Amino acid sequence: MRVSKAVIPAAGLGTRFLPATKATPKEMLPVVDKPAIQYVVEEAVSAGIDDVLFITGRSKRALEDHFDRNLELETVLAEKGDRERLAGITASNDLARIHYVRQGEALGLGHAVSMAERHVGDEPFAVLLGDDLIDPRDEVLPDMIAAREAVGGSILCLMEVPREQISLYGCAAVEPTATDGLVLVTDLIEKPAADEAPSNWAVIGRYVLDPGIFAVLKRTTPGRGGEIQLTDALRELAHGGAVYGVAFRGRRYDTGDRLSYLQAVIRLALERDDLGPALRDWLPSVLAAPATKETP
Ligand code: UTP
Repeated sequence: MRVSKAVIPAAGLGTRFLPATKATPKEMLPVVDKPAIQYVVEEAVSAGIDDVLFITGRSKRALEDHFDRNLELETVLAEKGDRERLAGITASNDLARIHYVRQGEALGLGHAVSMAERHVGDEPFAVLLGDDLIDPRDEVLPDMIAAREAVGGSILCLMEVPREQISLYGCAAVEPTATDGLVLVTDLIEKPAADEAPSNWAVIGRYVLDPGIFAVLKRTTPGRGGEIQLTDALRELAHGGAVYGVAFRGRRYDTGDRLSYLQAVIRLALERDDLGPALRDWLPSVLAAPATKETP
């Protein structure tokens, strides 16, 4: 069955980015001049998905407004003849059919995904974490969807990280398969200590899930941090031999982490024709000298 629906959980509290995320979801923080979440929706659409369900929290309004029309702005820009900015604000309106469901309480990523059951039904579906930005040139979702079509089950996206960073991620124990680039996931541990991690393979925020995950999530009890963890439900599926991993070696940023967010903004801005040259000229002077009031 074709993967046509994506679920984007965006109901987390974003505590690592406070106070910016007190009233604004972290997914709406701008990466250059587009909110992080728009890159994520564009990535899903580029992989052939045409139906997106956001799992939202308190801050649903900003997300809804961003993916809706803004007639006042459209009128002003049209009157000014500013076609470029007009195209910029309308681009997010028609990307996909967009739906929203409220999580109510941030009880964990597993709980957020379980909110999608009624909408998704009995189809395989993609999950893209709204604060995980994959460089548009390094897309991995099409490979994951192809893997699901080839072997079934649920497909994770795995990235090799230095051992001292594995405690920030879900970690996968893996075995090779007959297919190049595809591994069998035999076990999963949420944020293990470096000396307890079975590998350096971190699970990052892209998944193609079998709808069987919903039944498992229903009986998943709160795990690490008191949250209902998606990793715990996936571990049960992995023990049944139905979870695979696709290796990702591209550029990826965690826009919910302040340093990674800044890196995303700088790297993507440097590659833009309108901003890159001026930023490239300015950066060496900032790096060479400590910031002073005179630094332009
Ligand atoms: P994170 O753990 O990165 O999100 O969850 P968080 O809790 O908002 O972040 P910090 O650690 O407090 O800064 C990964 C993804 O799962 C979503 C988040 O919005 C994020 O996209 N999530 C998490 C939910 O939708 N609901 C939850 O209950 C928890």
